[in-house]
Amino acid sequence: MGEGRVPFSAPVWAVAITLPDFRGKNQHVNNLEERIAGCFAYSMNGVPPEYGSDEMLALSAYHQWLATGAPMYPDKPIYGRGFPAPDEPAEEPDYARGEAAYQENCSICHQNDGSGHYENGEYVFPAPWGDGSNNWGAGIARVETMAGFIYQNMPLGQPRSLSDQDAWDIAYFISSQERPQDPRYTGDVAETAERFGPTFHNRSLYGQTREHDGHVLGDHDNFGEKGDLKPWNVGMPRFENLSEE
Ligand code: HEC
Repeated sequence: MGEGRVPFSAPVWAVAITLPDFRGKNQHVNNLEERIAGCFAYSMNGVPPEYGSDEMLALSAYHQWLATGAPMYPDKPIYGRGFPAPDEPAEEPDYARGEAAYQENCSICHQNDGSGHYENGEYVFPAPWGDGSNNWGAGIARVETMAGFIYQNMPLGQPRSLSDQDAWDIAYFISSQERPQDPRYTGDVAETAERFGPTFHNRSLYGQTREHDGHVLGDHDNFGEKGDLKPWNVGMPRFENLSEE
């Protein structure tokens, strides 16, 4: 959002001054290019440009230019980094309440079926779930991350206007919908959920059974709009046998 500048919207300059650093998701020290490649493969459900390509260099340069003058981590906490989750809700997040609140606050732009709004070859309003959305390996597939993004940024133009309860309910509802398969998929949802559980899926609903219809989330081999194409930066041997952080 805001070309990567907006506080509490995961502004990209923060990453330029905190990397290289250890990343729980892939259990090793990541540099800026690897972190950007991860966003292509998971959040954008696409395929990243190669390291050292013109596109990758330009993106890195842009991140660093945005960070001009920012204090280097960990000397000072960075204002606006990420998108913190709202306070714990008074009541357990609830699917039906989330669905109602989504229809009231969000569907005018993102549609009732979560398909967003696509026009003249591009997304005007992105799809919060379904084939055109982030895949199961994207950070925002985790309920607390979804709640944080929604609370801090949505509805568009009205950040922090939802109640904590609404933000968690809507996040739970959206996180209970289907999205493209995790690119780290082993061919078996239970196995994938277990392998990446400690570092990731213990905070998503991947592999869990939806109460109201018995649907097992992520139990499919639909890789979304890009098709069954393995991004070059996932599924490397270093992803095997991840241990608890
Ligand atoms: C006025 C239109 C509008 C409304 C209402 C709105 N959104 Fe959005 N939403 C957007 C736009 C535009 C973006 C993309 C912002 C960007 O990347 O710059 C977005 C992005 C998102 C994303 C990130 C998706 C992605 O792939 O980047 C999620 C999740 C989301 N909105 C959820 C919600 C929820 C939940 C609500 C209701 C509480 C909501 N939105 C209300 C317009 C809207």
